[in-house]
Amino acid sequence: MSDKRPIGVFDSGVGGLSVLKELHKLLPKEDFIFIADQAHVPYGEKTSSQLCQLARNVCDFLTKKDVKLIVVACNTSTCYSIDYLRKEFKVPFVGTVPAIKTAAEKTMKKCIGVISTPATSASSYLADLITRHAQGVKVINIGCTGLENVVEKGDINSKEVETLLNKYLGPIKRAGADAIVLGCTHYPFLKTKIGKHVGPDVKILDSGKAIAKRTLALLEDSSSLNNHGGKSHYFTTGDDKDFSKVASVLMEKKITAQHIVL
Ligand code: DGL
Repeated sequence: MSDKRPIGVFDSGVGGLSVLKELHKLLPKEDFIFIADQAHVPYGEKTSSQLCQLARNVCDFLTKKDVKLIVVACNTSTCYSIDYLRKEFKVPFVGTVPAIKTAAEKTMKKCIGVISTPATSASSYLADLITRHAQGVKVINIGCTGLENVVEKGDINSKEVETLLNKYLGPIKRAGADAIVLGCTHYPFLKTKIGKHVGPDVKILDSGKAIAKRTLALLEDSSSLNNHGGKSHYFTTGDDKDFSKVASVLMEKKITAQHIVL
């Protein structure tokens, strides 16, 4: 038996592509529908009720496309709206949360840093993850404004990136953290740059692989794997040409997106 329905994946923008990359690696025979809600980026500066409404609009679109599962490839959206989405929609969800547990397990110096959007950084969801999984570990929690935007613009090598990384990684370096959690799906695209700032002895952790594994496990458990797919369709609520250009660089292959209004 093969369940040919696609998997929905969404983010405020191109950041979710860092999760989609891992999904492609682990689930090469699945079809995906990726939505970048770029008309509303950054999600990290929205309120809880705005985030629920935006996620709802995206999930209405995806469920109309008959997706079998939705990956919320956005930490901010997960922190503020996944409980709401699970109540409102019948489809199973996989969320993205900062890898606090893994970092707390790996740190030798009992000190970790977390960089994320201002909303994720201030969320009770993150506070709860820290309380549950990082007992006895010092956590430097930094909300970053503007870092997602340089990735959105494809400006990964700009001077602005260096300035922002200096500002946001400074307190983490000074505290002596030996693990840094990338709590926003845009940041894995800056991993090499971040590595240069913090040095080779600091582990840099994101959630992409864990999300792909969780998706595989859920599909296996419900006998919903597809053995015949392998295509991905890309939609943006922003400018389709801009998205396609930046996404092609980040995914290292030609991506052509379609504009949608949600
Ligand atoms: N990529 C998103 C996240 O993981 C949000 C970036 C933004 O739109 O602020 O939180």
